[in-house]
Amino acid sequence: MADRSIRVRVPGTSANLGAGFDTLGLACNLYNELELTLTERPGLSISVEGEGAGRIPEDDRNIVWRSIQLLLERSHHEKEYQGAIIRMKNEVPLSRGLGSSATAIVSGLKAANVIIGNKYNRRELLQLATEIEGHPDNVAPAIFGGFTVSTMKGRHVESFSFLPKIRLRFVVAVPDFFLPTKKAREVLPETVPRADAIFNIGRASMLVAALMKGSAYFLRRSFDDALHQPYRAQLIPGMYDVFRAARAAGALGTVLSGAGPCLISFVEERDEREEAVGEAMREAFEKHGVKAEIKHLGLDTRGAHIVNRNHQA
Ligand code: HSE
Repeated sequence: MADRSIRVRVPGTSANLGAGFDTLGLACNLYNELELTLTERPGLSISVEGEGAGRIPEDDRNIVWRSIQLLLERSHHEKEYQGAIIRMKNEVPLSRGLGSSATAIVSGLKAANVIIGNKYNRRELLQLATEIEGHPDNVAPAIFGGFTVSTMKGRHVESFSFLPKIRLRFVVAVPDFFLPTKKAREVLPETVPRADAIFNIGRASMLVAALMKGSAYFLRRSFDDALHQPYRAQLIPGMYDVFRAARAAGALGTVLSGAGPCLISFVEERDEREEAVGEAMREAFEKHGVKAEIKHLGLDTRGAHIVNRNHQA
């Protein structure tokens, strides 16, 4: 067996979308690229360019490498390929709620899967990725692209991906601090009142229906949440003020992106207020002493894909 190389691109994601905690997600047009060479000889070489450089571990704690190892073990290829050269070029900010860990996991699984001859289909990769990440709402859009709805039954995950009938842009405020998902999950209660569950079921359902029908009217009424945002607000100074400012500037709605600290506003494509929404979010954060970079993003519709194929002899 010779060493084999592959390059894949995986979109960043935003999970929850307000009421769809651990369930809904979307893929955006920010990408992490992975160039992977699997080698017969043991040894690991990892380099990171762009977002996360200097912070992402470049040894065997690296999540891309751990995902690759899991796939090689499950497929019984771990003796054939004992080492790797991993080159990451990242656009997705680290630990900010834009799915950086999901892109890392999915890129490792996708690239290794191609090299071993596509033993697993996308649904099987979703299963593996969810096992590693713990919940499906970021890994599903990273794999499939578009908007995704995911359910779990025990450890089994099902996701479907769809493109909305309304063209949207996403205005994301990226605060200049990290918020580990673990910390943002620790503030959540184990159980919730029935009224809060009902509150969210209505909005999550309405959000998906509004996206599929293309109704801006109902979208505007779908973004509130009672299950995670109220508890996480203490970790993100000014969160609700940023929501209000964005809405006043013309956003359809604003939610916490994943576990945060990024906040994401939804704006209709070609709405001339898109710039103003970003500026309002930046200013509202600033009033609370938070510096935020504003990104104007679109929907990724492809999900994880191969960039080029270069099997070395
Ligand atoms: N649904 C997850 C959360 C996404 O909100 O904790 C972050 O990985």
